[in-house]
Amino acid sequence: MGEEVRTLGTEDYDRLVALWQRAGLHSLRLQGRDSREAIARQLETRVQTILGLEVDGRLAGAVVATHDSRKGWINRLAVDPDFRRRGYGLRLIRAAEEVLKSQGIEVIAALVESDNFASLALFQKAGYREIDPGMHYLTRRDRDEA
Ligand SMILES: CC(C)(COP(=O)(O)OP(=O)(O)OC[C@H]1O[C@@H](n2cnc3c(N)ncnc32)[C@H](O)[C@@H]1OP(=O)(O)O)[C@@H](O)C(=O)NCCC(=O)NCCS
Repeated sequence: MGEEVRTLGTEDYDRLVALWQRAGLHSLRLQGRDSREAIARQLETRVQTILGLEVDGRLAGAVVATHDSRKGWINRLAVDPDFRRRGYGLRLIRAAEEVLKSQGIEVIAALVESDNFASLALFQKAGYREIDPGMHYLTRRDRDEA
């Protein structure tokens, strides 16, 4: 048993979604970019890596590391409520950074909602700095669930 960070694959999909739901990630799009098929397609591109932290056989946390060849992104960071404040979130950020650095990425970014104080505190502790508090996040979607 013990603790281990490992790469997750499509076979881990159900456990991953259960973790995301337990963690309360409210931007999940299970009919869209977080569907089983979408995640499988994203993993095939090889620019997306999903890391999971197993603790005594339970999926305690996970993170998605992806890049667009210029910049790396840390997405969908989640730690199960039973396992919080044990340093696992920070550990997952560091593991995602290692993956992105090994892919030649020197800038890593994360989007955090302004009322997500836990995540903001965590990223700040990990050394991330807000570059422009006045920045607006805009997207254009083919459909609401995308
Ligand atoms: C944000 C989240 C991933 C943090 O995971 P975690 O494993 O509890 O974080 P860590 O134990 O690594 O915390 C490291 C540091 O971050 C800060 N931090 C983490 N949670 C915090 C909280 N609730 N309040 C204040 N600071 C917090 C602290 O500085 C903490 O260090 P400390 O415990 O020594 O004080 C977790 O709360 C979570 O899954 N939240 C729901 C999903 C989410 O919002 N994900 C982020 C999307 S951007």
